[in-house]
Order: sequence, then C-alpha cells, then structure tokens
Amino acid sequence: MTTITEIPKLVTVFGGSGFVGRHVVRALARRGYRVRVACRRPDLANFVQPLGNVGQIQPVQANIRVRWSIDRAVEGADHVVNLVGILYEGGKQKFSAVHDEGARAVAQAAAAAGAGLTHNSAIGASVDSASLYARSKARGEMAVLEANKNAVIFRPSIVFGPEDQFYNRFADMARYSPFLPLLGGGNTRFQPVFVGDVAEAIARSVDGTVKGGTIYELGGPEVMTFRECMEEMLEIIDRKRQLVTVPWWLAELQGSILGMLPSPLLTTDQVTQLRNDNVVSADAERQGRTITALGIQPQASAAILPSYLWRYRPAGQFTRKTLA
Ligand SMILES: NC(=O)c1ccc[n+]([C@@H]2O[C@H](COP(=O)([O-])OP(=O)(O)OC[C@H]3O[C@@H](n4cnc5c(N)ncnc54)[C@H](OP(=O)(O)O)[C@@H]3O)[C@@H](O)[C@H]2O)c1
Repeated sequence: MTTITEIPKLVTVFGGSGFVGRHVVRALARRGYRVRVACRRPDLANFVQPLGNVGQIQPVQANIRVRWSIDRAVEGADHVVNLVGILYEGGKQKFSAVHDEGARAVAQAAAAAGAGLTHNSAIGASVDSASLYARSKARGEMAVLEANKNAVIFRPSIVFGPEDQFYNRFADMARYSPFLPLLGGGNTRFQPVFVGDVAEAIARSVDGTVKGGTIYELGGPEVMTFRECMEEMLEIIDRKRQLVTVPWWLAELQGSILGMLPSPLLTTDQVTQLRNDNVVSADAERQGRTITALGIQPQASAAILPSYLWRYRPAGQFTRKTLA
C-alpha cells in the first residue's frame, strides 16, 4: 500500500484485458496502484481505463510470445501479474508457447526488472496429466518458480462472475435449446470461485501480504458437480431444461469435430480435463494454501449468480423469486 507522499507502485498486468484481468485491474486501481495493462490489442482494451482514475491505467502492447515486448511492458514495474491463458490452441497460440515458454519469459523479465511476480495457473496443473492444457500449466509453474523463487502462484477452480465463459455460455444455450449436455453424466466436481475473490487474492499478493514461493489453490465455499451447477443456473434463470447425459466417447467425438473450428465450443483436450474433478486438494487444505488462509471468505455462487444471470430469464416474466 502507498502513502500520499510516495509515488504509487506500478503494476504490469499481462492478460489484464481478460475476464479475470479486468477485475484484478479494478482491485489494484482501487488500492491506488498505477496499472499498466499489457495485451496484444491495446486499442481493443480501452474499456479498462475507466476502471481507475484518469491516467491511472495505461494499456500497452505486448505479446508474451515476443520477449522484447515483455521487457518493454515490464520496464520500471514494481510488480508483475501474469493472467495470460488460452483454452484451446490456434496458430502460434500453442499451450506450450503461452503457458510454458510465455510464463517463463514473463518471470525472467520480472526478475531482471527486480519486480515481484504473481502468476495465475489452474487447478489440475500437473506434468502427469493426460491434458495438454494441464501439463503446460504445470510446466509454466515450474518455469516461474525457477526464474523467481518468491513468486506467488494461484490455481483457481472454475471462476464465475459477470463476464464468465461458464455460466453465461450454458445460460445462453438454455435460451434456445430444450436440453443441456452433461458430459459423462455431469458428475465431475467443481469448486466455483467468485472472480472478485480471485482478484482480491491477487491484489493482496501485490500488496506483499501473501507468502511467496507458494502455490495456492482457490476454490469457493461449495463443491458442486457439473449437474448441480447446471441445476442451480436453470433455477436462477427460471427455465426448465432436460439435462441429457453425453457419454465420454461421444463427447470425445464431438470435441474432435468441434475442435477443428477457429473458436471451438469444445475440444478433446477439454473433454480430457472434464474427466477430472476441479477442486482444492486435500494437501492445499492441510498446508493452508487456500483462499481462506489468505483471510478471504469466498462468496457462494448462489449469492452472486442472480446478479448477472437475470438477463437469461424469459422476457418480461417475473417469478416469485425475483419479486421476493
Ligand atoms: N476463467 C476461469 O474459469 C479460470 C480458471 C482457472 C484458471 N484460469 C486462469 O486465469 C487466467 C485468466 O483467465 P481468464 O478467464 O481471464 O482468461 P481470458 O478472459 O481468456 O483472458 C486471457 C487474457 O490473455 C491474453 N492473451 C492471450 N494470449 C496472449 C499473448 N500471446 N500475449 C499476451 N496476452 C495474451 C488475452 O488478451 P488478448 O487476447 O486480447 O491479447 C486476455 O487478456 C489464465 O491464466 C487462466 O488459465 C481461469
């Protein structure tokens, strides 16, 4: 934190234009930091500027596959946050290039600039995983800690919030489709965590109150199966839809076909990830590497989802719940 006489700390946020990024930028701006938002198309990221005071937030051009652009974005920064991630590969945006080599390059640049580092990974990151995404995230974590042994790494479970790609996507699908798919029966367990709580954890790391050299696993207060997530979402948007089991073999087949599209709804690698639970591990709980150990009481999805899923309700229809 800063005092009035100090120049506020400068924080470079890679991926600051993304879903988690905009909440992190807002949390940092509220604390008074100067924020440099590093992304590939700063012209499209002008929406981040109103998240702070005039001149407090500056978008800059950087691609974490291009080292000189990273160095330029990090120059003079006191802290670097890396929120860059992709859900599927396309062109030069390979998992290895973005999650592994890109993470290493950002960590090295931060270390060279003498800046602190907070890095976002994901629950399930493991070099032994069958998923390319999860393996690349694990290699990225190792590269980060190699370059900067005091870095703080956060692994969230699925993150929810106004612009999320999870509840919004399925709620939108429920507007047009009489059924929703449950991959493998929908028994995979998640621990949805609110984006505001993830942003607060990251901001505390920038404040310097989070122990470095540690991998934290961030989950919300409830563990829910995919089916339970869909049931909760359907109740909130007040729509009755059939939940149809899609066997894993059929999901793989769909993933292999859809995966050929430029912005695929599903890939085989995502099907592989969905076979595994996405919850905070017993080790993280035991060792105090959780969001509550950071002093944050995570919010439940039931408290937040109605605030942004209301728009998927049938038009003009008020329910007993909305009027209550
Ligand atoms: N959302 C979740 O449920 C969730 C769960 C677990 C972990 N995470 C992790 O949390 C982080 C943030 O996720 P998110 O949901 O906010 O993702 P997002 O909305 O897709 O944002 C990703 C950001 O990465 C940037 N980016 C992509 N490729 C880049 C490159 N080569 N160089 C520079 N920037 C690049 C994007 O900006 P441009 O494309 O405009 O350049 C965007 O700002 C990621 O590491 C993700 O893996 C997210």
